[in-house]
Amino acid sequence: MKTKSGKSLFPIGIGTWNIGGTFAANPSAKYKGAEPDYDNEAAEIEAIRYSISKGQNHIDCAELYGAFHTDEVVGKAIAGLSREDLYIADKLWKTSVGKGLVRATVEQMLEKLGTEYLDMLYIHAPWDEVSWQEAIPQIDELINEGVVRDFGVSNFTVGDMEQTRQIAKHPIVANQMNYNALYKSEVTQEFQDYCRKNDIQVIAYQPFKRQEVLNDKTIRSIAEAHGAAPAQIALAWLLTQNTLPIPKSINKRHIDENVSAVNIVLSEHEMKQLNERM
Ligand SMILES: NC(=O)c1ccc[n+]([C@@H]2O[C@H](COP(=O)([O-])OP(=O)(O)OC[C@H]3O[C@@H](n4cnc5c(N)ncnc54)[C@H](OP(=O)(O)O)[C@@H]3O)[C@@H](O)[C@H]2O)c1
Repeated sequence: MKTKSGKSLFPIGIGTWNIGGTFAANPSAKYKGAEPDYDNEAAEIEAIRYSISKGQNHIDCAELYGAFHTDEVVGKAIAGLSREDLYIADKLWKTSVGKGLVRATVEQMLEKLGTEYLDMLYIHAPWDEVSWQEAIPQIDELINEGVVRDFGVSNFTVGDMEQTRQIAKHPIVANQMNYNALYKSEVTQEFQDYCRKNDIQVIAYQPFKRQEVLNDKTIRSIAEAHGAAPAQIALAWLLTQNTLPIPKSINKRHIDENVSAVNIVLSEHEMKQLNERM
C-alpha cells in the first residue's frame, strides 16, 4: 500500500470490531454474534499488544465500534509504544460526515486513541441516506494540516470511487471491502483492475466471514494438506489476491496462526479451487 508517510505495513492488519464492544460500548453491548468474552478489556489490550509484538503494525478502528470505546481500548493498548511504527486507521460513521462534523469527530478519535494524528481516515460506507460527499473537503483539510495522513473509503463501488475522485484533492489510498474465499461478489475482476490502475489498496474485511470460511470443506482440506489451520489458508488466498486482510482475534494461538499465514504458498490447483469456491 502506498502510504503518504512511507510507512510499510505488515501484510495482515488487526481488525477490532467486537473489541471493546460491538455497536455500543461495553459492557452493555448486546448484539447477535457478539462473543461471550467481549467485555474482557484486559485480555483485549493484551491481545492487541501481542499482535503488535508479532509485527502487525496496522490497526483498523471505527467510531462505530463500541461507540468510540474500541478506540479507547486501542489507545490503552498502544500507550507507550512508538507511534511512528504503527499505522492507525479509523472510520467516520454516517452521523459524522455532514458539514462541520468531521473535525470534531476526528478530535474525539485522537483523544480516545491518545494520538496526535490518524494514518488513515475512511468514510465507512457510501450511504444513500446521507451526503457522505460532504466529508471529502473536510478530510482534505485535515490531510493538509497533517492531522490525517491517508484518505480511505469503505464499501465503495467503482462508481462511488469515481465520484469521490472527482471531488477529493487527495488520492484514495485504500478501499475496505467485504471479501473472503466464500464472498467475492463485490470485489470483482473489474473492481480489482480499477483499484490496481488507480493505486487503491483493497483491504479485505471479514476475511473469515466471522468464522464461516473456517468451516468450509475446501478450505479445510487444503489446510490439512499443508498441516495448517483453515484461517491460514483463508488469509493466504486473500494475500494472493493483492488484498490486505484485517482479521480480528483476541486469541494468542489464533494471532500466531494468522501472522504466519504469510509463509503459506498455495499451489496452482489450490488457487483454482479457492478462486472457484463461492
Ligand atoms: N469496513 C467495514 O464495513 C467493516 C465491516 C466489518 C468488519 N470490518 C473490519 O474487519 C475486521 C475483521 O472482520 P470481523 O471481525 O467482522 O470478522 P473476521 O475477522 O472474519 O472473524 C473474526 C472471528 O474469527 C475468529 N478468529 C480469528 N482468527 C482465527 C483463527 N486463526 N482461527 C479461528 N478463528 C479465528 C475470531 O475469534 P478470536 O478473537 O477468538 O480469535 C472472531 O470470532 C473487523 O474486526 C473490522 O476491523 C470492517
